[in-house]
Amino acid sequence: MVRLMYLVLVMSMRLAVLAQKDYEYPTLWNPSTIATSSVDYADGPAKLKGYLAYSNATIGPRPAVIVYPDWDGISNYERFRANLLASMGYVGFVADIYSQSVQQGPSLPAANRSALMAPFRSNSSYFRPRLLAALSTVRALSSDIVQKDKIFAIGYCFGGGGVLELARAWPNTPGLLGVGGFHAGPLVTAGPKAQPGNPLRINAFIGADDPGVTPDSVTAFKDEMEAANVTWAYYNYGRTVHGFTLLENPVWNGDKNVSNGYNAAADHASWWALRGILLEVFQLGNTTNPYTSVGGAYDYQTGIAGSKLMSA
Ligand SMILES: *[C@@H]1O[C@H](CO)[C@@H](O)[C@H](O)[C@H]1NC(C)=O
Ligand SMILES: *[C@@H]1O[C@H](CO)[C@@H](O)[C@H](O)[C@H]1NC(C)=O
Ligand SMILES: *[C@@H]1O[C@H](CO)[C@@H](O)[C@H](O)[C@H]1NC(C)=O
Ligand SMILES: *[C@@H]1O[C@H](CO)[C@@H](O)[C@H](O)[C@H]1NC(C)=O
Ligand SMILES: *[C@@H]1O[C@H](CO)[C@@H](O)[C@H](O)[C@H]1NC(C)=O
Ligand SMILES: *[C@@H]1O[C@H](CO)[C@@H](O)[C@H](O)[C@H]1NC(C)=O
Repeated sequence: MVRLMYLVLVMSMRLAVLAQKDYEYPTLWNPSTIATSSVDYADGPAKLKGYLAYSNATIGPRPAVIVYPDWDGISNYERFRANLLASMGYVGFVADIYSQSVQQGPSLPAANRSALMAPFRSNSSYFRPRLLAALSTVRALSSDIVQKDKIFAIGYCFGGGGVLELARAWPNTPGLLGVGGFHAGPLVTAGPKAQPGNPLRINAFIGADDPGVTPDSVTAFKDEMEAANVTWAYYNYGRTVHGFTLLENPVWNGDKNVSNGYNAAADHASWWALRGILLEVFQLGNTTNPYTSVGGAYDYQTGIAGSKLMSA
């Protein structure tokens, strides 16, 4: 009887894991204008599958933003960000790090996430080509879709640390203009540091109460950027912990023992900051008057990207 109950318990736990649904993100764009597809690519023997989104209400090539996933790999979260970027008139492309053979998303147990992430985090020689593979794939997309001289990379958590690695390793990739890491980890690298003359715009968006970001690592990041003469920024959001952009996370209640939580103010502020950075690096704003003009690529209200992007 006890054994049977144990079996039922174990099975129901397994079912609970399997049944864990991906969070339903709101559709903040006009679905009839956002074309999505998957893109197969590879890094050596690793077979990868990225997610591509762009507005087919626009004609002509669009600047591209690559989204590097957090530790559970590709889930609705990353697709949400890519679709938002698409609604703004950009190409959104979610990179695959773990490969097609890995079941990715929220049902992936934490132990598996750690095990999958560890070899990339500890070995920049393994991670950096995997990061580059997504960038190369975006650069190889049709020039009817992508404006290949305007590419930016963002990432979350593991992927945020990833875009910093990308910036360190591949600063002179044609078209790559900058990166932004949200609750990025780690800020410092186990591999070669950024080299002097790195031309990229390197940004980190970090919660001031993120327990994974120590004062020492912040200092080391800033010192590395300074030593390399990088145009860098460190956005420090107060009363904010790790995972502050993930709408599926519980709202952080201020308990310093809780390391992960959503913070709408920091999420929105960092997203607005990113949007400004994209207008600036892609030169979509009115550079004659960057102070008062919005310029830019999209109509956020209707989600219909359009004319401004084409005339920019
Ligand atoms: C754009 O893509 C959406 C989603 O796939 C589709 O419903 C729509 O028909 C497409 N529109 C055009 C003009 O291709
Ligand atoms: C998690 O890892 C274990 C041990 O390697 C493996 O047996 C299991 O299939 C993995 N689960 C998923 C969902 O990848
Ligand atoms: C790091 O990755 C490289 C490239 O995949 C590999 O050749 C090397 O053996 C790895 N080093 C360790 C310590 O795993
Ligand atoms: C540092 O960067 C600025 C522009 O960002 C450039 O004018 C200057 O020459 C650079 N200095 C070095 C030492 O690379
Ligand atoms: C936080 O953790 C510490 C030590 O584990 C404990 O002493 C403290 O009571 C906890 N605080 C809260 C608000 O739970
Ligand atoms: C850009 O700003 C300048 C200076 O304010 C203004 O004269 C010009 O009309 C603006 N151009 C566009 C396209 O908005």
